[in-house]
Amino acid sequence: MAVPAQRYVCQECGATHGKWAGRCESCGGWNSVVEELSRESAPRGLGQDAGRKIELVPLQGGEAEAPRRPSGINELDRVLGGGLVGGSAVLVAGDPGIGKSTILLQAAASLARGGGSCLYVSGEEATGQVRLRANRLGLADAPVQLASATSVRDVLTSIDSPDRPDVVIIDSIQTMFVDTLNSAPGSVAQVRSSAQELIRFAKRRGSVMILVGHVTKEGQIAGPRVLEHMVDTVLYFEGERSHQFRILRAVKNRYGATDEIGVFEMTDGGLHEVANPSALFLSEHDRDISGAAVFAGIEGSRPVLVEIQALVTPSPLATPRRAVVGWDSGRLAMIMAVLDARCGLALGGNDVYLNVAGGLRIAEPAADLAFAAALVSSQTGDPVPANTVVFGEIGLSGEVRQVSQIDARLKEAAKLGFTHAIIPRRKRSETDDDSRTAPLAVREIGQLTDLVALFDAPA
Ligand code: TYD
Ligand code: MG
Repeated sequence: MAVPAQRYVCQECGATHGKWAGRCESCGGWNSVVEELSRESAPRGLGQDAGRKIELVPLQGGEAEAPRRPSGINELDRVLGGGLVGGSAVLVAGDPGIGKSTILLQAAASLARGGGSCLYVSGEEATGQVRLRANRLGLADAPVQLASATSVRDVLTSIDSPDRPDVVIIDSIQTMFVDTLNSAPGSVAQVRSSAQELIRFAKRRGSVMILVGHVTKEGQIAGPRVLEHMVDTVLYFEGERSHQFRILRAVKNRYGATDEIGVFEMTDGGLHEVANPSALFLSEHDRDISGAAVFAGIEGSRPVLVEIQALVTPSPLATPRRAVVGWDSGRLAMIMAVLDARCGLALGGNDVYLNVAGGLRIAEPAADLAFAAALVSSQTGDPVPANTVVFGEIGLSGEVRQVSQIDARLKEAAKLGFTHAIIPRRKRSETDDDSRTAPLAVREIGQLTDLVALFDAPA
């Protein structure tokens, strides 16, 4: 029998070290290296223990497109690229309490009602608790199989047969353990080995394996980072817990696009799909206020209008506060620098707060101009012109750059009753056809100073 090998594993990045260290050399994380005992045997040499011969096949040759099993929840299927693919592994990651268990129970019920066999394994709750939740969600009659278990071996032994479930949901991977490792459930080694065995089963039997992974800020419990390489699809479930909106985002997908989002609303009766989210992130105002701008964005394949809010106030502090929710704070620093250097608008001595309404996270550079408009508006106290959407990327020299899908953005804005748009200067060929922007009065700007000038102009 192999002697348990002692090794030290970083709980944040999964790097292995020969000795303990206060700081992981690989990722630079502090206090993340933990001792782990493993009984993994050393690789064997050639001889009678050599591996099996594998079948080599040519690249060319027909292969049918993998059949998909739609979950029946459209927003989820959209993010998956059309449905679940047999033999694949999906990781659903998110903060604790964001709604992962809820959406997967709903998906399980929907799949089971559609004729698929579905097993929901909870390592966190007893079956009675899951049943109570299902009752609350009105799913009590769905033919879903339940199990409360944490041993991967037990789970696989129970389902390893030709009539295995079509879909297996493991909630969560951090509670699972394999008994060949001594480290605690939730450690990188356990998470990795458990996932490996479950995924191997999925590939062998053609089931879909859905793994739930909690993300923790401290990295004490292995975050799902190490898992991202092992699975076919990674979905992040995001949102502010205090908001009712939740966004499911694909960050990796071997079977579909990765920029797609699914939008849900958390209610007493579980998560409801929001099929048309474009107006969701606009807040209601009965009058124009300063410091707010509406950004016409694109999330995946859909246009979404979002309200950007800024508050700029003189700071009593030596180091003014910068607080950004829903956007990259590095991007804010850049835009403030450009406003300062190119437009002579110094915000440096002010506290700056930025918020994206509704709990959305914006990653598109096209939002730069809307953030700039909100900042300038708050600084000058002058509202952004009424019924106006804003988009455009800002470059370091203060130029406003082209963005993609201008037509789709304008069309959506017109549909929602906006009448004006401030956008980057377009190439001539794009403006030839006037009918495309007909419902909106479009102001094209080439420089950030043009935007600032809009606010300086007397009303
Ligand atoms: P849950 O799915 O347990 O989160 P996770 O599995 O990601 O940890 O969701 C928990 C939260 O959702 C909890 O705070 C209560 C809320 N919730 C509702 O608002 N409505 C519901 O119908 C359900 C089931 C949960
Ligand atoms: Mg849960």
